[in-house]
Amino acid sequence: MKRILSGIQPTGSLNIGTYLGSVKNFVKLQDELPDYEFFIFIADLHAITVYKDKQELRKLIRELAALYIACGLRPERVNLFIQSEVPAHAQMAYLLQCNAYIGELERMTQYKDKSKKQETGVTVGLFTYPTLMAADILLYDPDFVPVGRDQKQHLELTRDIAQRVNNKYNDIFTVPEPLIAEVGAKINSLTDPTAKMSKSDANEKSRINLLDPEHIIKKRIRSAVTDSLGTITYDPEKRPGISNLMTIYSLIGNKSFDEIEAMYADKGYKEFKDDLGELIYQELKPIQDRYNELINSKELDDIFDKGRDAAYKVSQKKLFKLMNRIGLGRKR
Ligand code: TYM
Repeated sequence: MKRILSGIQPTGSLNIGTYLGSVKNFVKLQDELPDYEFFIFIADLHAITVYKDKQELRKLIRELAALYIACGLRPERVNLFIQSEVPAHAQMAYLLQCNAYIGELERMTQYKDKSKKQETGVTVGLFTYPTLMAADILLYDPDFVPVGRDQKQHLELTRDIAQRVNNKYNDIFTVPEPLIAEVGAKINSLTDPTAKMSKSDANEKSRINLLDPEHIIKKRIRSAVTDSLGTITYDPEKRPGISNLMTIYSLIGNKSFDEIEAMYADKGYKEFKDDLGELIYQELKPIQDRYNELINSKELDDIFDKGRDAAYKVSQKKLFKLMNRIGLGRKR
C-alpha cells in the first residue's frame, strides 16, 4: 500500500498560511489519490521544544484536529492521530539520533533562526527536533510527504538519515519525496511580506487565523502591507506585498495571476482588498460552522482513537524491525 503522511504542530491557532500551504492540499490529495493510505498527525511532542502551558496545549491539539476535519479531511479516508499517543515516535527518534551528526543538525536554518530568537535557554529538544521529524516520517514508509517550503531542508535531512540507516542495516526505510505545491508553498506575513506567515509571530496582525471573525479578517487584509504603486500585478521579487495577497486570492478564488491582473487592471488596492477580504470570509465561514459542531463532540475522540490504533500498528512494526536489525534487546 502506498502512503502519504504529514504533520502539523499545535503551537498556535491554524492560520491561512498553513491552511493554504498544507491543509488544503492534503484535503485535495485524499480525493485525488484513492490508492493511497493517508496519515496525518498533530505533532504535540514537537510543540514542547519550547515551554507551553498545559491547558493551552490541550486546547490547541483539539482545536487543530477539529479544524482539519472542518476543512474537509475525511476521517474514513485519513488516519488522524496525536503524535504523543503513539510511543514509537519518541523511541525511533532516539535510534535516528544515533545515526545523525551534530554538524548536520547545526546547519538546519529553522534551528538557527529559532535558537537566536529564544530568550531563555535553547533546549536539546529544539536541536534534535529534525530527528524526531525524521522518525515521524520513516516509521510509516510514506512515498510522499506534503509540506510547505520551510520544511524542505528537514525533508532532505530525513532522506539522508534514511539512506544512511539503509546502508548500515539493510534497506529498512522508504526514502520519502517531499511534495511541495508550486503556488502556496510559502504564504507570507501580512505585515512583513518577506517573512513567512507564522503561528508563532508575536504580531497578530501578521496573519489571519481560521477562526477569526469576519471583521478581523477584513481588517487584517485592509491593513496588509503593500507598496506605493497601487496596481495589481504579480512580481514576488520587487512587489512581495501585493504578490502575497494575489497568491492568497489565486488559491482561494481559483484564478491564475493573469486572470487576477486582468480583473483589476483599472482598479486599485481598496477594491482588490475588499474583494479578497470577502473571499477569505466566504471560504472560512463554513469551516467555522463545522468546527463549532465538532469541537466538543465525542466524534472527535472516536477519530483520534481510530487514528492512534492504525498508527500504532504500522509504527510499532517498523520500530521492532529496526531494533532487530540493530541487535537491541531480545529477538522479536
Ligand atoms: P508547522 O506546524 O510549522 O506547519 C505545518 C505545515 O504547514 C506548512 N506551512 C506553510 N506553508 C506555506 N506558507 C506558510 N506560511 C506556512 N506555514 C506553515 C509547513 O511547511 C508544514 O507543512 N515540523 C513540522 C511538523 C512536522 C511534520 C512532521 C511535517 C513534524 N513532523 C513529519 C511533515 C512530516 C512543522 O513545524 O510544521
